[in-house]
Amino acid sequence: MASRPTISKAVIPAAGLGTRFLPATKATPKEMLPVVDKPAIQYVVEEAVSAGLDDVLMITGRNKRPLEDHFDRNYELESALQKKGDASRLAKVQESSDLATMHYVRQGDPKGLGHAVLCAAPHVGHEPFAVLLGDDLIDPRDPLLQRMIEVQEEHGGSVIALMEVAPEQIHLYGCAAVEATAEGDTVKITGLVEKPDPADAPSNYAIIGRYVLAPQIFDVLRETEPGRGGEIQLTDALQQLAADEKLGGPVHGVVFQGRRYDTGDRGDYLRAIVRLACEREDLGPEFRTWLRGYVGQELTEG
Ligand code: UTP
Repeated sequence: MASRPTISKAVIPAAGLGTRFLPATKATPKEMLPVVDKPAIQYVVEEAVSAGLDDVLMITGRNKRPLEDHFDRNYELESALQKKGDASRLAKVQESSDLATMHYVRQGDPKGLGHAVLCAAPHVGHEPFAVLLGDDLIDPRDPLLQRMIEVQEEHGGSVIALMEVAPEQIHLYGCAAVEATAEGDTVKITGLVEKPDPADAPSNYAIIGRYVLAPQIFDVLRETEPGRGGEIQLTDALQQLAADEKLGGPVHGVVFQGRRYDTGDRGDYLRAIVRLACEREDLGPEFRTWLRGYVGQELTEG
């Protein structure tokens, strides 16, 4: 069998309007909101790098300058910290600019996630590639992308990440119809539907923001009409691939059971900060003590 091309490129769409987080996102991209002391997007780039993908293309929009600056050098700040002899903060500043080879492309109009992914076509070319949503945070201790890459290398085609959600939550996600495979954590996708009514949902498997895609997705996206919400939906293009394997191979799903936060949602964003802060060696002990006291007091008072 001919060897399949290895995956080396990650695409991170970060051009959405972030309306759920207004007014914070009026002039700042939601991906730059800090989760403890690092912007959400840095966790996502770190995840790509730890899965072996150090060529990162970010799809940005109008307000996205801070994203580019964050992954670039800041000579003024670096020399100020050097003069002070503050090596540990200097290392923190340099960490993000040394992480990966970063590339940027602007989406122009935010016409949907499918359209954002299509903007990556000239950079990606004809290889399979990974997509990581810039506002979706997978806990670094629960690796997912490596497993998805393994599944893609084994079966070819495309692989999407799935998570079981309560039936009343499924209308918030893309939803997959699936068939079991011999591997416990992997399913074959037979159909996909974007944000279904619970009564029409084929399962409670929700699509979460990690994908390993066959390059044929670009041909399908070029033909994909705007769908739900008037946006060009990645789910609609994946549905085409799942419906006809001849287009770009099979579509599989890896069922994720680890910790994941949608940092574009205010409640999940708060949960991410509290959990990650509690687990930090430097901040955790003091923060946990405070939190225990605060929660105890809140519960007794109200
Ligand atoms: P969301 O569905 O979270 O949309 O996008 P949004 O516009 O960013 O946020 P809300 O719903 O208005 O609060 C999912 C991912 O797709 C990217 C977003 O940046 C996010 O990472 N996206 C979405 C684009 O890059 N371009 C688009 O046109 C739409």
